[in-house]
Amino acid sequence: MDDDKRAPALPTSVQAHPLRRKHHRARTAKFLAVFALLASLQLLVPSLTNFFGSARTKSVARVLAHCEALSKIPAPPPDFHKRRTSDRFVPGTRAVLVRNARIWTGAQNGTEVVRGDVFLDGGVVRGVGHLGGLLDASIQRGDIDVVDVKGAWVTPGIVDTHSHIGTDSSPALAGASDTNSRKGTILPWMRSLDGLNTHDAAYTLSIAGGVTTALVLPGSANAIGGQAFTIKLRATHERSPTAMLVDPPFDIVGNTTGGPLRWRQMKHACGENPSRVYQATRMDTFWAFRQAYDKARQIKQKQDEYCAQAARGEWSALGEFPEDLQWEALVDVLRGRVRVHTHCYEAVDLDDLIRLSNEFEFSIAAVHHAHEAYLVPDVLKRAYGAPPAAAIFATNARYKREAYRGSEFAARILAENGLKVVMKSDHPVLNSRFLLYEAQQAHFYGLPENLAIAAVTSTPAQVIGLDHRVGYLKEGYDADLVVWDSHPLALGATPVQVYIDGIAQLAEPHIAHKPAAFQAAPDVPNFDSEAAETIAYEGLPPLAPTSVDTALVLFTNVSSVVLPSAGVLHETFSASSVDDAGVVLVRNGSIACSGAESVCWQSQYIADGERVKVVDLKGGAVSPGLMSYGSPLGLVEISAEPSTGDGRVFDPLSGDVPAVIGGDTTLVRAVDGLQFGERSALLAYRAGVTKAISAPSHSRFWAGLGTSFSLGAAHKLAEGAVIQEVTALHVAVGHFGVQPSVSTQIAALRRLLLALPGDRDVSASFLDVAKGKIPIVVEAHSADVIATLILLKKEVEEKTGATIQMTVAGATEAHLLAKEIAEAGVGIILVPSRPFPTVWEERRILPGPPLTKESAISLLLAHNVTVGIGVEESWSARNIRFDIGWAALEADGRISKLQALALASTDLEKLLGGEAEVAAATADLVVTEGGDLLSFESKVVGVVSARRGAVDLF
Ligand SMILES: *[C@@H]1O[C@H](CO)[C@@H](O)[C@H](O)[C@H]1NC(C)=O
Ligand SMILES: *[C@@H]1O[C@H](CO)[C@@H](O)[C@H](O)[C@H]1NC(C)=O
Ligand SMILES: *[C@@H]1O[C@H](CO)[C@@H](O)[C@H](O)[C@H]1NC(C)=O
Ligand SMILES: *[C@@H]1O[C@H](CO)[C@@H](O)[C@H](O)[C@H]1NC(C)=O
Ligand SMILES: *[C@@H]1O[C@H](CO)[C@@H](O)[C@H](O)[C@H]1NC(C)=O
Repeated sequence: MDDDKRAPALPTSVQAHPLRRKHHRARTAKFLAVFALLASLQLLVPSLTNFFGSARTKSVARVLAHCEALSKIPAPPPDFHKRRTSDRFVPGTRAVLVRNARIWTGAQNGTEVVRGDVFLDGGVVRGVGHLGGLLDASIQRGDIDVVDVKGAWVTPGIVDTHSHIGTDSSPALAGASDTNSRKGTILPWMRSLDGLNTHDAAYTLSIAGGVTTALVLPGSANAIGGQAFTIKLRATHERSPTAMLVDPPFDIVGNTTGGPLRWRQMKHACGENPSRVYQATRMDTFWAFRQAYDKARQIKQKQDEYCAQAARGEWSALGEFPEDLQWEALVDVLRGRVRVHTHCYEAVDLDDLIRLSNEFEFSIAAVHHAHEAYLVPDVLKRAYGAPPAAAIFATNARYKREAYRGSEFAARILAENGLKVVMKSDHPVLNSRFLLYEAQQAHFYGLPENLAIAAVTSTPAQVIGLDHRVGYLKEGYDADLVVWDSHPLALGATPVQVYIDGIAQLAEPHIAHKPAAFQAAPDVPNFDSEAAETIAYEGLPPLAPTSVDTALVLFTNVSSVVLPSAGVLHETFSASSVDDAGVVLVRNGSIACSGAESVCWQSQYIADGERVKVVDLKGGAVSPGLMSYGSPLGLVEISAEPSTGDGRVFDPLSGDVPAVIGGDTTLVRAVDGLQFGERSALLAYRAGVTKAISAPSHSRFWAGLGTSFSLGAAHKLAEGAVIQEVTALHVAVGHFGVQPSVSTQIAALRRLLLALPGDRDVSASFLDVAKGKIPIVVEAHSADVIATLILLKKEVEEKTGATIQMTVAGATEAHLLAKEIAEAGVGIILVPSRPFPTVWEERRILPGPPLTKESAISLLLAHNVTVGIGVEESWSARNIRFDIGWAALEADGRISKLQALALASTDLEKLLGGEAEVAAATADLVVTEGGDLLSFESKVVGVVSARRGAVDLF
């Protein structure tokens, strides 16, 4: 204790130890124990005799016990797994026997699957296996609820190692962001628990995705952001943050008797985030780290010297135990009692961090985000103690320089290097409801099945030091489990029920019936060569497509062909069995023949001696090329780097528009800012998304004229690069701060749409919208705004007599007005396709199964609304094939494969004013191997482009 005047005179361990209390109350039992200890000490330390019986004797014993405790490492009590009741047990919770399950236990490196039952009692897993007989009597007495899951997959509850749930709450409100302190860059004394909002709308949603436990980390604005806490997501009777904690350090919950030491958690961050917030550089941040760790080391050394003196019985010179409330947590890191979680991306940052860990001799539990970890596995292996786990996203990357080399193959490459892989949400960056989807994608790109499920259950439990109670299904573990409607790695796997502490969390689960094949892990494609290339090119493998050099390409073993015709999709071929597969013959980018091989292999299609490139699709399909909308694809390469994009348009409602561009009347054309060859665009292209429509980048009301373009084109002048220069007029109506108000934005729109021809203050494009010549796409989420737009549409139509083509994009709350939207003939684009109540205007979501039967997509389609789906960020464009596959799966047969494809192709294009391809019948086609475009079993191997008269093969 160097300078803190408030510090207590007696030694107070700073962590989770019984002696931690500042105010000592007489405790008889304890005193007797101390007395016994002192009696023995007296024999060893003669100088103590003077104090025996005095108040100071008690403190001598405390000092010695305290010093001894400093070397303790957290561990559960040895008999922990014999417990019959959890400390989180809620009295009155009935025992449950989950019967006839396929139980992924987490044992044997995640390969053990037990067919049988799980018995939950006292908030604890009391048995796994064939338990029926043993419990029959209790079942007959009615003491146990029996749930027959009929062979369903059961896993431990999902554990999220990186969440801001409760601190970065939803819906986000300006007055309540509790993720970061801005009061300095070294803040080991902050505690995320102090900001934990118990009313975050995300708890219920994430539980509905199977998440039961989350480590709530402070944000990454500081080098040392503070202490993190592990919570269970369920509601508690006490309704407090404290009641949500799992294995909290005893002092945190004021438990003075305590037990064996428990793990603490701490957040660190390197790289751009702490740099940005403090106008620092990487050099500043690491100096700040070294200074902080040096301070902690000095305190630790003083403590150790103090204890050494005490052990030698040199009491006379001993003063106060050296400690400091601000630094105690960092001292505990050096004592190996804290799991350190470090937001750290690039090779340079990881190298800095590992050097720090070796200089100060502390280990790191996990590096988070860690987009370049797969490029430098040897650096991680050099870490002090044990190599950190890598807690990563599956495909969320390229949003800043640090993430530019992020790879979908990172998980498998890290695992191949023997490093632990954790998939995390960074909720609400990714909605943790879909954390399992991260594991599914990692598996799709090559992470083995056992490690993929472990990456969201047992491995994160190990990383946070809670693997004695969560992350596995074994006797003595917490009664946290998920019953799934399919194999957990199957696309769209959704909980049928979720138990936390033995309490069922879904009151009335809505369950979709999945195809039988979904009860096994998907047979995913092979990406070995892509993964190897990714390493060879340091994360930036060449992605530009190359066209085949033959005029003829014959695709064999084709199971399905879906083609657009006049803007409508038709399945023109469908194999009834594997033996019945067909062929598709393409000449110069257009289908010349499809059906039986014998039919296409004829002279009318293939001339004598003509070269034919033959591609075996192994049961694959030919599908319409998908379209992306909603992200700034084609306009920004790295979203955090303004120099990598077109920049934002002026908004005449919030400031002056320069006269040189024509003042307020100017509508910017997105086509003029297009850039080609962006990595997110090329990755999307290689995942079947052949084109995009983007509006000019904007943050408020005024957007401009959208454009439709090819994602595979090398540059704007390339054949077919720009598909349609102008597609529709785009504006946004919503809360963009205090000004301009929503009503102001509506007033502007009314004036613009009711302008008379020749009004020099209004762009002619608004007249085109009013006459119904081009669509208007209005970004809006709130049902109230959508209702106002419907009224405005009517008002304008009554005055002009024309019909406005209006599309509302975003549209999170559109489901509330499904009938009215259908009647008004307004189209809807849902962005994102699976809703989340990010802000107030989006709070009334229709979450879909298991919380509701209908999703927004299925409900709007049922009302015959034309629906499309979009993505918010460029990186997620590549996942559109899975978004639509998922939408169809959760609609339980109410959305056909063709409807699902139309959501991101023909219907989406119509809603956005894309007509060029419909007119010319030149839409791109996507070729998949091993299955159709919507599944985890297929790989996109090519694009057939009639527009360019070419076939690209990947
Ligand atoms: C765990 O499984 C992975 C992938 O299946 C394998 O590579 C690894 O060697 C296994 N580890 C152990 C300890 O068996
Ligand atoms: C303190 O923790 C111990 C060990 O878990 C437990 O036995 C005891 O009941 C707790 N005391 C209180 C007051 O919660
Ligand atoms: C196909 O393309 C080749 C080379 O690009 C060209 O010579 C040929 O005329 C084209 N054939 C047709 C039918 O368009
Ligand atoms: C087509 O591919 C499927 C899946 O790989 C395979 O089972 C089947 O035998 C193949 N059929 C032919 C005719 O090659
Ligand atoms: C939607 O269209 C179908 C087919 O035209 C029709 O049968 C159905 O009644 C319509 N549904 C609604 C809610 O209008």
